[in-house]
Amino acid sequence: MPAPKLFVLTHGCQMNEYDSAKMADVLARSHGYIRTHDAEEADLLLLNTCSIREKAQEKVFSELGRWRDWKNADPRRLIGVGGCVASQEGQAIARRAPQVDLVFGPQTLHRLPQLVDQARAEGRTAVDVSFPEIEKFDCLPAPRAEGPTAFVSVMEGCSKYCSFCVVPYTRGTEISRPLDSVLLEIAQLAGQGVREVTLLGQNVNAYRGRMGDTDETCDLALLIHYVAQIPGILRIRFTTSHPAEFGDALIEAFAEQPKLCAYLHLPVQSGSDRILGMMKRGYTRADFLRKIGRVREARPGLSVSTDFIVGFPGETDDDFARTLELIAEVGFDCAYSFLYSARPGTPAANLRDGVPLEVKQQRLSMLQHRIRQFDDAFRQSLVGSVQPVLVERPARLGHGQMAGRISANRVVNFDAPADSIGRVLDVRITETAANSLRGQLLDTPLAA
Ligand code: SAH
Ligand code: F3S
Repeated sequence: MPAPKLFVLTHGCQMNEYDSAKMADVLARSHGYIRTHDAEEADLLLLNTCSIREKAQEKVFSELGRWRDWKNADPRRLIGVGGCVASQEGQAIARRAPQVDLVFGPQTLHRLPQLVDQARAEGRTAVDVSFPEIEKFDCLPAPRAEGPTAFVSVMEGCSKYCSFCVVPYTRGTEISRPLDSVLLEIAQLAGQGVREVTLLGQNVNAYRGRMGDTDETCDLALLIHYVAQIPGILRIRFTTSHPAEFGDALIEAFAEQPKLCAYLHLPVQSGSDRILGMMKRGYTRADFLRKIGRVREARPGLSVSTDFIVGFPGETDDDFARTLELIAEVGFDCAYSFLYSARPGTPAANLRDGVPLEVKQQRLSMLQHRIRQFDDAFRQSLVGSVQPVLVERPARLGHGQMAGRISANRVVNFDAPADSIGRVLDVRITETAANSLRGQLLDTPLAA
């Protein structure tokens, strides 16, 4: 019999990308599933969902509608729904979409093999959206590298409970993987050619991993130093950190650890103290500015990006003006911005909101225009400079070019030999493109 085929569609954040890769790994080990990029030929379809905003959640049921026909064509096929929508809705998914055979949460994906068997044996939807602590990581097969960069999840969940956010409810409260388990995974990846790791967590700077059998814990800064010592690892990134817990040790890591990339994503959400208070973010605008100032002192040339929520309930013109001021003051090189979306079960969903949608949309486009100017200016400022680039893959648009990223996380396309993947090469940035950069390989390398 030919090996069964698995198709995984991922919505949402990098943690979901990581989880999807792990789903494929556990099912390859248990049932010999081979991953396919063509849903048509799959025997099992998995949808790894996101519920951070309403739009993401709506996409789930429209996707499942499309998959119903696929299942009608061959009822032996299986459909599974995982991720944050599954976590929140559980059994209700099966009521609304009876074609679904399995429902699992972010913390139960390692139980997929049993759920597949159960769904097959019982002929009805198998559901497990519990939070069995950190058991997941003990049950996963050894990682498989896909190229020279990799994500590694170091903690799960979030205990910050920002008033607008579903994550603490869908992914549970914060729980860190033991240090040894993280280091082993990264060493295995490095052995397979990985040169850059991104340490992942919803609130990754709350990482407190157990060290061996001691009662001592390792924080993110110390973890970064350990990772830097793993042979083969040349670059380290982390995401997402929270401003309130962005402490001295992590700031110092930017000064002391050259393998830590010159890029920091630190979501601020708003520039208004009144709104930050209502969001329960736990810092003020002044706190945020002070921290950014200190990291930039620690690492001159650091590129800073952020997230904004526009149109939080009751956001006034004045609050919004404070956000625009903050953008000018910090000079973010890049930012992601979202229209506030009320999430059921979160405290902010009960707040009165008299701001018309039109006003919110105008604010969003004004903010995005402003951010775009900074983004353009940043890419323009790189033209003429020489940047070490980790070569990751052939460029999307081909032309025989390769693509890689600079330390500040921007993609550069340039002519290079195909066997340069996984190497750090010096590239002169020659021009900017729509969302990336173009460059030219230097003949005489400046750095290794
Ligand atoms: N852990 C990250 C956030 C994860 S969610 C942090 O510490 O900030 C990613 C981004 O989605 C958030 O930074 C926020 O800007 C946005 N977001 C979260 N909940 C949202 C909501 N209810 N409506 C709109 N945007 C939201
Ligand atoms: Fe969400 Fe705030 Fe945690 S945005 S992920 S509750 S830090």
